[in-house]
Parts: sequence; structure tokens; C-alpha cells
Amino acid sequence: MAVAVITGAGQGLGRADALRLAQDGFEVMCLDRNLDAARETAGMCGGTAFRCDVTDRDEVMAVADRIGECFALINNAGIWNFPSILEVTEEQLQSVIEVNIKGIVWCCQAFVPKMRAGGGGSIVNMSSGAAWTNSPNIGIYPATKAAVESLTRTLALELGAANIRTNAIGPGLIVSDGTAANFEGGRAAERAKGVPMGRVGAPADIADVVSFLCSDDSRYVNGQVIYVDGGITAGTMAR
Ligand SMILES: NC(=O)c1ccc[n+]([C@@H]2O[C@H](COP(=O)([O-])OP(=O)(O)OC[C@H]3O[C@@H](n4cnc5c(N)ncnc54)[C@H](O)[C@@H]3O)[C@@H](O)[C@H]2O)c1
Repeated sequence: MAVAVITGAGQGLGRADALRLAQDGFEVMCLDRNLDAARETAGMCGGTAFRCDVTDRDEVMAVADRIGECFALINNAGIWNFPSILEVTEEQLQSVIEVNIKGIVWCCQAFVPKMRAGGGGSIVNMSSGAAWTNSPNIGIYPATKAAVESLTRTLALELGAANIRTNAIGPGLIVSDGTAANFEGGRAAERAKGVPMGRVGAPADIADVVSFLCSDDSRYVNGQVIYVDGGITAGTMAR
């Protein structure tokens, strides 16, 4: 059974990814800084739970030591805060950079050697449509996701020859545990008006693409960002 490692697997998109990859036949390793949440996901998909804060290099390495092999690495853990660039504090800035960028670096350092040893693998990094849609007033978050896309391309170039593919997914407006509050009180319908397909997304919409990127069907896809957003990033709906 091939092993899939998912960060931030305790809820939201990470949980949906875990359920889908388990369905696909992967042995799923559920990593989250919240161990109870990771355990809950693992219980739902027959996986194994690990407490792991991706910003802590030592902890990531220690968890990797406990996991024998790895074919798929889903760098899903991510956080956001939206104070304006002119007002963001050192602590707010640092926390988003730590999780969204450094976390991916530490996880790749920990798990790519296992992919090499196994003859190949697939890395899926969670970006965001916000990486380039240029919405105002969302502070540092888009810049961290633009960095995720840059890391994705660099890794694709460096690891392709080892049969390790690296791609990213840019979710649009997805109702997850972390974003649910933004869609309450009729706001889902309101926000759906800005989506060409006329609806906001569900975690399974993302998990299905993660599944594709971890399958042999995507064997020649490397260094790409796939926006899964009902068409938001295709352009503007203004006429
Ligand atoms: N939901 C959306 O609309 C949306 C849109 C674009 C991008 N994304 C990206 O998708 C990813 C998942 O988003 P979500 O909506 O499922 O979020 P969420 O808040 O529902 O879940 C995030 C999970 O990551 C875990 N986590 C946070 N920091 C961590 C750390 N340092 N180490 C380990 N685990 C950590 C949390 O405990 C939580 O279980 C993020 O990278 C986010 O930026 C989401």
C-alpha cells in the first residue's frame, strides 16, 4: 500500500484529502498540530494520526522517522490573517510565513528522501486563487501563496528527474471548517455571485483533484498550478 502524508489533516480540506486518498487505496498519515483532530480524521479513514506542527523542523523530522515510506506528500497546512500590509504586526506576518512557506520546506526536506528511496512520488502544495487575483485588503496571505507556487516550480525542476512530480492546487471559495464563518447568514449565496459557475466549493472539490495529482493519470503533470475555483481566476464577471 502506498503511503500518503497529509499536513493539516485534522479538518477542512486536509480531512477531505485524507478520506479521498484512503478511498483510493493509500495508507494515510494524518499530521496536524491538533492531535485530537488528526486522530478524528485518522479514525474516519483507517489512517494513522501524528501530532506535527509543520513550522517545527525537529518535530517534522521526528514524525518522518516514524513513517517508513512516502509516495504522496500533501502540503495542505495553511493559515491566514488579513490585516493590511501597512498595519500587519511582526507576529502576524511571521506566523503566516512560518506555516505557509517554511512548513512546506521542512516537510519536503523530511519526506522527499523517502520518495527518492521508493523510486518516485507526488507532492501537492496548497496554494490559493488569492496568489494572483489581486484582491485588495488581504495583507500578506497572497504573497505567501505566490511563494508556494514559486516553490512548486523550483521543486518540479529539481525533482522531476527523480520521478517526483510537484504541483499545486489553488482553491477558490471553499466552505471548510476554517472558512465556514465567512459563508454564514446568506453570505454563501452572495459570494457565489462572483463565481462563474454560480456556487461556492466544497472540500471534496479539492480532494478529487488531489486524488488525480497522486494518481498515475497525472504521470506527466509536473510544475503546474491547478485552480479549483469554479472559474474565478479565469477573469472578471464584469460586462
Ligand atoms: N478554504 C478555502 O476557501 C481555501 C481557499 C484557498 C486556499 N486554501 C488553503 O487550503 C489549505 C486548507 O485550508 P482549510 O480551509 O481546510 O483550513 P482549516 O483552517 O479548515 O484547516 C487547516 C488545518 O491545518 C492545521 N494547521 C494549521 N497550522 C498548522 C501547523 N503549523 N502545523 C500543522 N497543522 C496546522 C489546523 O490545525 C487545521 O486542522 C490552507 O493551506 C489554505 O490556505 C483554502
